[in-house]
Amino acid sequence: MELDWSLGRYEPTAELLLLISERVVTMSEPLAGKHVVDLGCGTGNAALLAAERGAVVTGVDPAARLLAVARKRAAERGLQVEFAAGDSASIPVEDGAADLLLSVFAVIFAPDAEAAIAEMMRATAAEGLIRLTSWIPGGSMTAINRTAGQFMAEMFGGESSGPGTAAPFAWHDEAALQQAFAAHGFTVELERHSMQLRATSPEAYLEESAQHPMAVSGAQALASRSDSEELQAELDRRLLAAVREVNEDPAAFQASNEYVIVTARRSEA
Ligand SMILES: C[S@@+](CC[C@H](N)C(=O)[O-])C[C@H]1O[C@@H](n2cnc3c(N)ncnc32)[C@H](O)[C@@H]1O
Repeated sequence: MELDWSLGRYEPTAELLLLISERVVTMSEPLAGKHVVDLGCGTGNAALLAAERGAVVTGVDPAARLLAVARKRAAERGLQVEFAAGDSASIPVEDGAADLLLSVFAVIFAPDAEAAIAEMMRATAAEGLIRLTSWIPGGSMTAINRTAGQFMAEMFGGESSGPGTAAPFAWHDEAALQQAFAAHGFTVELERHSMQLRATSPEAYLEESAQHPMAVSGAQALASRSDSEELQAELDRRLLAAVREVNEDPAAFQASNEYVIVTARRSEA
């Protein structure tokens, strides 16, 4: 089931993830004059940071509402950025156009990882880089996604993926990445990082996540059932249990979310 990321409010999550885009863009400097493609740009976090550093930027996303937010943010900052509809199956740039193709927690949602990797490579220049981020299972982000995905699969059948659950490709796993990228003559390097999420309690953390597109999409799907209230209550109970399990602060809520920054480049001949 593909998720409509225009649902609800993704903006608070984008704020939480901004520091990761900052890290990814900063490590990619210098960017002046380079063509940066931000695949799955959402509200434009990485795209705007790259444009501020003088890059020529194309932000690409399937979610029309998020593109509109990104365009507004660019205009507010006086930045020229092209934001275009597209996704990992079809990136609206010419072959080899991107000096740097970024995807911050976005291509990991591609329904077909192999096709997404081939499409990113098509869009990237011979000397260019692909740089993406992926969560390492174990933190609150993956706990919530997995718990919701499993619950929705129990309710509606199908694979264990729920709305917006990442395709079954281990985007964080070095061996899986090496294999997938090597098939196209690319090598990959991984850098491991961690970010902390905090709230006053596990309940407060879940409350803050309630307008996330995944939560809204799940609630809409459950609303079609006659026992929707009980089902939503059961999902909430399971999410709370999952979040409590990863909580590192008994007096409040704190969870480390580990992630990788993956850099892929064409191997030397
Ligand atoms: C977790 S958000 C990340 C957004 C942004 N990169 C950020 O750091 O805030 C995931 C984004 O991926 C986009 N997305 C979902 N499926 C995608 C796909 N197959 N190809 C490209 N982007 C996709 C969503 O619309 C959403 O904007």
